[in-house]
Amino acid sequence: MEILKNFVVFEGCDGSGTTTQLNTIENFFLDNKPSLPSFFKTFEPTKGSIGKLIRLGLRNEEILTPQTIAMLFAADRNEHLYAKDGLVERCQRGELVVCDRYVPSSLVYQGITCGDELPERLNKDFPGPELLLFFDIESEEALRRLSSRDRKEIYEYLDFQVEVRRRYKALLPKLQESGVRVEIIDASLPPDEVAKKVWAVLREMPIFKG
Ligand code: TYD
Repeated sequence: MEILKNFVVFEGCDGSGTTTQLNTIENFFLDNKPSLPSFFKTFEPTKGSIGKLIRLGLRNEEILTPQTIAMLFAADRNEHLYAKDGLVERCQRGELVVCDRYVPSSLVYQGITCGDELPERLNKDFPGPELLLFFDIESEEALRRLSSRDRKEIYEYLDFQVEVRRRYKALLPKLQESGVRVEIIDASLPPDEVAKKVWAVLREMPIFKG
Protein backbone atom coordinates (compact mmCIF):
# COMPACT_ATOMS: atom_id res chain seq x y z
CA MET A 1 0.00 0.00 0.00
CA GLU A 2 1.19 3.51 -0.79
CA ILE A 3 1.80 5.46 2.44
CA LEU A 4 1.10 9.19 2.60
CA LYS A 5 3.82 10.82 4.68
CA ASN A 6 2.73 13.35 7.35
CA PHE A 7 -0.76 11.84 7.41
CA VAL A 8 -2.15 10.65 10.76
CA VAL A 9 -5.50 9.01 11.38
CA PHE A 10 -7.46 8.63 14.62
CA GLU A 11 -9.77 5.61 14.75
CA GLY A 12 -11.98 4.00 17.37
CA CYS A 13 -15.49 2.91 18.23
CA ASP A 14 -18.18 5.57 18.61
CA GLY A 15 -17.66 7.25 21.98
CA SER A 16 -13.93 6.47 22.13
CA GLY A 17 -13.07 10.17 22.26
CA THR A 18 -11.23 10.68 18.96
CA THR A 19 -12.89 14.06 18.34
CA THR A 20 -12.07 15.37 21.83
CA GLN A 21 -8.46 14.29 21.47
CA LEU A 22 -8.11 15.85 18.05
CA ASN A 23 -9.39 19.17 19.43
CA THR A 24 -6.87 18.97 22.29
CA ILE A 25 -4.02 18.37 19.86
CA GLU A 26 -5.18 21.26 17.69
CA ASN A 27 -5.12 23.60 20.72
CA PHE A 28 -1.67 22.40 21.61
CA PHE A 29 -0.46 23.25 18.10
CA LEU A 30 -2.16 26.65 18.21
CA ASP A 31 -0.51 27.44 21.57
CA ASN A 32 2.97 26.39 20.40
CA LYS A 33 2.73 27.45 16.78
CA PRO A 34 6.16 28.91 15.98
CA SER A 35 8.09 25.86 17.19
CA LEU A 36 5.92 23.21 15.48
CA PRO A 37 5.15 22.17 11.88
CA SER A 38 1.92 23.56 10.47
CA PHE A 39 -1.03 21.47 11.48
CA PHE A 40 -4.30 20.69 9.74
CA LYS A 41 -7.21 19.08 11.59
CA THR A 42 -9.87 17.32 9.56
CA PHE A 43 -12.49 14.59 9.75
CA GLU A 44 -14.67 12.13 7.80
CA PRO A 45 -17.49 12.28 6.92
CA THR A 46 -16.32 15.74 5.80
CA LYS A 47 -18.28 18.97 5.99
CA GLY A 48 -18.54 19.00 2.16
CA SER A 49 -21.79 18.27 0.34
CA ILE A 50 -21.20 14.50 0.14
CA GLY A 51 -20.30 14.42 3.84
CA LYS A 52 -23.49 16.29 4.69
CA LEU A 53 -25.57 13.76 2.78
CA ILE A 54 -23.80 10.95 4.66
CA ARG A 55 -24.66 12.61 8.02
CA LEU A 56 -28.34 12.68 7.02
CA GLY A 57 -28.07 8.96 6.21
CA LEU A 58 -26.41 8.24 9.58
CA ARG A 59 -29.28 9.96 11.39
CA ASN A 60 -31.86 8.15 9.27
CA GLU A 61 -33.16 11.48 8.01
CA GLU A 62 -32.35 10.36 4.46
CA ILE A 63 -33.06 6.68 3.86
CA LEU A 64 -30.12 5.19 1.96
CA THR A 65 -29.12 1.59 1.36
CA PRO A 66 -25.94 0.43 3.15
CA GLN A 67 -24.26 0.07 -0.26
CA THR A 68 -25.03 3.69 -1.17
CA ILE A 69 -23.61 4.81 2.17
CA ALA A 70 -20.41 2.82 1.47
CA MET A 71 -20.10 4.48 -1.95
CA LEU A 72 -20.75 7.94 -0.52
CA PHE A 73 -18.02 7.48 2.09
CA ALA A 74 -15.58 6.56 -0.70
CA ALA A 75 -16.66 9.54 -2.86
CA ASP A 76 -16.36 11.90 0.11
CA ARG A 77 -12.87 10.52 0.80
CA ASN A 78 -11.78 10.93 -2.81
CA GLU A 79 -12.68 14.65 -2.70
CA HIS A 80 -11.08 15.00 0.73
CA LEU A 81 -7.79 13.59 -0.57
CA TYR A 82 -7.54 14.88 -4.12
CA ALA A 83 -9.43 18.18 -4.36
CA LYS A 84 -7.46 21.43 -4.54
CA ASP A 85 -5.90 22.01 -1.09
CA GLY A 86 -6.89 18.45 -0.25
CA LEU A 87 -5.05 16.15 2.13
CA VAL A 88 -2.56 14.84 -0.42
CA GLU A 89 -1.47 18.36 -1.39
CA ARG A 90 -1.21 19.41 2.24
CA CYS A 91 0.86 16.40 3.30
CA GLN A 92 3.15 16.82 0.32
CA ARG A 93 3.86 20.44 1.16
CA GLY A 94 4.91 19.46 4.68
CA GLU A 95 1.80 20.03 6.80
CA LEU A 96 0.96 17.54 9.52
CA VAL A 97 -2.58 16.38 8.69
CA VAL A 98 -4.57 14.61 11.39
CA CYS A 99 -7.90 13.12 10.37
CA ASP A 100 -10.70 11.86 12.62
CA ARG A 101 -11.60 8.55 10.83
CA TYR A 102 -10.53 7.31 7.38
CA VAL A 103 -10.45 4.08 5.31
CA PRO A 104 -10.35 1.78 8.38
CA SER A 105 -13.77 3.12 9.47
CA SER A 106 -15.19 2.10 6.10
CA LEU A 107 -13.60 -1.36 6.25
CA VAL A 108 -14.98 -1.89 9.75
CA TYR A 109 -18.43 -0.23 9.70
CA GLN A 110 -19.40 -0.87 6.07
CA GLY A 111 -17.79 -4.31 6.38
CA ILE A 112 -20.53 -5.05 8.89
CA THR A 113 -23.41 -3.51 6.94
CA CYS A 114 -22.38 -4.54 3.37
CA GLY A 115 -19.92 -7.42 3.79
CA ASP A 116 -16.18 -6.98 3.27
CA GLU A 117 -15.99 -7.05 -0.52
CA LEU A 118 -17.62 -3.71 -1.38
CA PRO A 119 -15.74 -1.45 1.08
CA GLU A 120 -12.46 -3.24 0.26
CA ARG A 121 -12.99 -2.65 -3.46
CA LEU A 122 -14.05 0.97 -3.03
CA ASN A 123 -11.07 1.83 -0.80
CA LYS A 124 -8.24 -0.25 -2.21
CA ASP A 125 -6.52 2.60 -4.08
CA PHE A 126 -6.48 5.22 -1.33
CA PRO A 127 -3.10 5.81 0.32
CA GLY A 128 -2.54 4.62 3.88
CA PRO A 129 -1.60 7.00 6.72
CA GLU A 130 1.93 7.16 8.11
CA LEU A 131 0.52 6.69 11.62
CA LEU A 132 -2.77 5.34 12.96
CA LEU A 133 -3.86 5.81 16.57
CA PHE A 134 -6.55 3.42 17.71
CA PHE A 135 -8.48 4.65 20.75
CA ASP A 136 -9.47 1.49 22.54
CA ILE A 137 -12.29 1.29 25.06
CA GLU A 138 -14.89 -1.29 26.18
CA SER A 139 -18.01 -0.86 24.03
CA GLU A 140 -20.32 -0.57 27.07
CA GLU A 141 -18.26 2.32 28.46
CA ALA A 142 -18.09 4.02 25.06
CA LEU A 143 -21.87 3.85 24.66
CA ARG A 144 -22.38 5.19 28.19
CA ARG A 145 -20.36 8.23 27.14
CA LEU A 146 -22.60 8.72 24.11
CA SER A 147 -25.85 8.38 26.04
CA SER A 148 -25.88 12.08 27.00
CA ARG A 149 -26.14 13.09 23.34
CA ASP A 150 -29.65 13.68 22.09
CA ARG A 151 -29.24 12.55 18.48
CA LYS A 152 -28.62 8.86 17.92
CA GLU A 153 -26.95 7.52 14.79
CA ILE A 154 -27.72 4.20 13.10
CA TYR A 155 -24.56 2.45 14.38
CA GLU A 156 -24.88 3.45 18.04
CA TYR A 157 -26.10 0.28 19.73
CA LEU A 158 -24.22 -2.29 21.74
CA ASP A 159 -24.15 -5.39 19.48
CA PHE A 160 -22.95 -3.30 16.58
CA GLN A 161 -20.23 -1.56 18.61
CA VAL A 162 -18.93 -4.86 20.03
CA GLU A 163 -18.55 -6.09 16.45
CA VAL A 164 -16.88 -2.78 15.45
CA ARG A 165 -14.25 -3.24 18.16
CA ARG A 166 -13.68 -6.88 17.20
CA ARG A 167 -13.19 -5.93 13.56
CA TYR A 168 -10.78 -3.11 14.36
CA LYS A 169 -8.66 -5.51 16.40
CA ALA A 170 -8.52 -7.94 13.47
CA LEU A 171 -7.73 -5.16 10.99
CA LEU A 172 -4.91 -3.38 12.88
CA PRO A 173 -2.22 -6.07 12.43
CA LYS A 174 -2.97 -6.16 8.69
CA LEU A 175 -2.50 -2.40 8.43
CA GLN A 176 0.75 -2.68 10.33
CA GLU A 177 1.96 -5.35 7.90
CA SER A 178 1.22 -3.04 4.99
CA GLY A 179 3.45 -0.30 6.37
CA VAL A 180 1.24 1.81 8.64
CA ARG A 181 2.63 2.56 12.12
CA VAL A 182 -0.19 1.50 14.46
CA GLU A 183 -0.41 2.61 18.10
CA ILE A 184 -3.14 1.53 20.50
CA ILE A 185 -4.15 4.13 23.09
CA ASP A 186 -6.09 3.23 26.24
CA ALA A 187 -9.08 5.53 25.76
CA SER A 188 -10.65 4.62 29.11
CA LEU A 189 -8.12 6.89 30.90
CA PRO A 190 -9.02 10.48 31.81
CA PRO A 191 -8.84 12.78 28.74
CA ASP A 192 -5.70 14.66 29.87
CA GLU A 193 -3.80 11.39 30.34
CA VAL A 194 -4.94 10.17 26.94
CA ALA A 195 -3.78 13.48 25.45
CA LYS A 196 -0.29 12.99 26.93
CA LYS A 197 -0.06 9.57 25.34
CA VAL A 198 -1.23 10.93 22.00
CA TRP A 199 1.42 13.62 22.05
CA ALA A 200 4.14 11.11 23.06
CA VAL A 201 3.30 9.03 19.98
CA LEU A 202 2.98 11.95 17.55
CA ARG A 203 6.28 13.55 18.51
CA GLU A 204 8.13 10.44 17.34
CA MET A 205 7.16 11.21 13.74
CA PRO A 206 9.97 12.19 11.37
CA ILE A 207 8.26 15.55 10.69
CA PHE A 208 9.24 16.69 14.21
CA LYS A 209 12.84 15.66 13.75
CA GLY A 210 13.61 17.54 10.55
P1 TYD B 1 -17.95 10.52 13.81
O1 TYD B 1 -18.02 11.87 13.20
O2 TYD B 1 -16.64 10.08 14.34
O3 TYD B 1 -19.03 10.38 14.93
P2 TYD B 1 -19.89 11.55 15.63
O4 TYD B 1 -20.89 12.01 14.61
O5 TYD B 1 -20.51 10.81 16.75
O6 TYD B 1 -18.90 12.59 16.06
O7 TYD B 1 -18.37 9.46 12.72
C1 TYD B 1 -19.66 9.33 12.31
C2 TYD B 1 -19.98 7.90 12.06
O8 TYD B 1 -19.58 7.54 10.75
C3 TYD B 1 -19.33 6.90 13.01
O9 TYD B 1 -20.35 6.06 13.52
C4 TYD B 1 -18.46 6.07 12.10
C5 TYD B 1 -19.10 6.23 10.76
N1 TYD B 1 -18.20 6.03 9.61
C6 TYD B 1 -18.39 4.95 8.77
O10 TYD B 1 -19.29 4.13 8.99
N2 TYD B 1 -17.59 4.79 7.68
C7 TYD B 1 -16.60 5.67 7.38
O11 TYD B 1 -15.88 5.49 6.36
C8 TYD B 1 -16.40 6.80 8.25
C9 TYD B 1 -15.34 7.81 7.92
C10 TYD B 1 -17.23 6.96 9.36
